[in-house]
Amino acid sequence: MFIIKEASPAMSNPARPEIQASTVIRNIGQLVTISQQPLAGAGGPLQVIANAALAVQKGHIVWMGPDDDAEPIFQQGQSRGDGITLIDAGGAVITPGLVDSHTHLVFAGDRAEEFHLRRRGVSYGELLAQGRGILTTMRATREADTETLTELAQRRLDAMRRHGTTTVEAKTGYGLDTVTEETCLRIINSLNALESEPRSQPDRVRIVPTFLGAHSLPPEYREKRAAYVDLVVEEMLPSFVGLARFCDVFCEREAFTLEECRRILTRAKELGYGLKLHADQLSPSGGARLAAELGATSADHLDFASDEDLDAMREAGVVATLLPGCSYTLRTPYPSARRFLDRGLHVALATDFNPGTSYCENMQTMLGLAMSAMGMSLEEALTAATINGARALGLQDRIGSLEVGKRCELVLWSIRDYQEIGYHFGVNLVQSVLRL
Ligand code: NIG
Ligand code: FE
Repeated sequence: MFIIKEASPAMSNPARPEIQASTVIRNIGQLVTISQQPLAGAGGPLQVIANAALAVQKGHIVWMGPDDDAEPIFQQGQSRGDGITLIDAGGAVITPGLVDSHTHLVFAGDRAEEFHLRRRGVSYGELLAQGRGILTTMRATREADTETLTELAQRRLDAMRRHGTTTVEAKTGYGLDTVTEETCLRIINSLNALESEPRSQPDRVRIVPTFLGAHSLPPEYREKRAAYVDLVVEEMLPSFVGLARFCDVFCEREAFTLEECRRILTRAKELGYGLKLHADQLSPSGGARLAAELGATSADHLDFASDEDLDAMREAGVVATLLPGCSYTLRTPYPSARRFLDRGLHVALATDFNPGTSYCENMQTMLGLAMSAMGMSLEEALTAATINGARALGLQDRIGSLEVGKRCELVLWSIRDYQEIGYHFGVNLVQSVLRL
């Protein structure tokens, strides 16, 4: 645990530029900035400052540097009579808060039975085709009341936060009717931390809501798919403006066709939603190419995307989000991250937390899998789990790295060297998160 105490009075040093700070974090063993800017005194590709300090004003980072240089900030503050809160990090490693940019947060029930059926050889696609899979969860979600759904989502967010996540994208997609989809969006919005006052809600995280009405065709529309797409386009999308930031689609043989996805996303774009796609996960669906064509913020999964699709995504600035929890759960080959990184794509990592293909809230597990099974270096994996996750949510100017001007959202790790991340696995290395 870190200790919070008031700074002691000291003499001011007029030679230093004036920095106004309400909080200063000192005694940071290693500050891993993932900074996009070159930083004086920082060594290594991740820009690690040893024995560092960081100053914060109104939730934004105003200064970072060697701990020895932090003293004058107190001196100035003290001489002005500011009440500066001093946080002693106790030598902890600090990184930016982890950004989980792809989760299916709100649902009831579980699919343990189907998980074990799959161990016996039944495929995910077969279960979907039998009306199970996503539809099993849809039935449980429609039956659950708002209070239960909220409580379940809150418990999952707590687990995510305890493992280092400070920003979570949360999709709907288990309601598949207007009322339940709206209920899920309202739950997501109700759990979101207030941006203006993070300190008054230390146990909350930032949540980015995504509408995923085109997740699976609900059974009542089995014989009339076009009518469901009409419902999404004409009723749900217009009425969810303001409740969801992004619109996502599951572009897959077993879910929605390329043409259906194009129609939904085109309308979503007109209405001001950012776009995301579940693309080329189980087969080559054309989703990655569509993401490039429409200028989506991210395309996710991409197991079957071709080299040409990936090149088109790079040219269009679409973030490639890799979800190793799915390969783990479905026992399918892990996509090679090198394929994406070596052609210059921005790669993000996320949990894809959901009851079917990745029942895991823990971003540290994804960091480990990315390094052990997808060929990423620690530097690439940490970048993917922070700044590129932020990029996949259009938040790269506010969060995802530790830089002057960005929001102060941190993970304090209970390790002495950041190189333990991904190496020491299967336990929680996070001591706490801090949003100031
Ligand atoms: O990202 N592929 C579609 N959606 C989820 C799975 C959802 C589910 O199986 O419940 C995914 O893998
Ligand atoms: Fe997903």
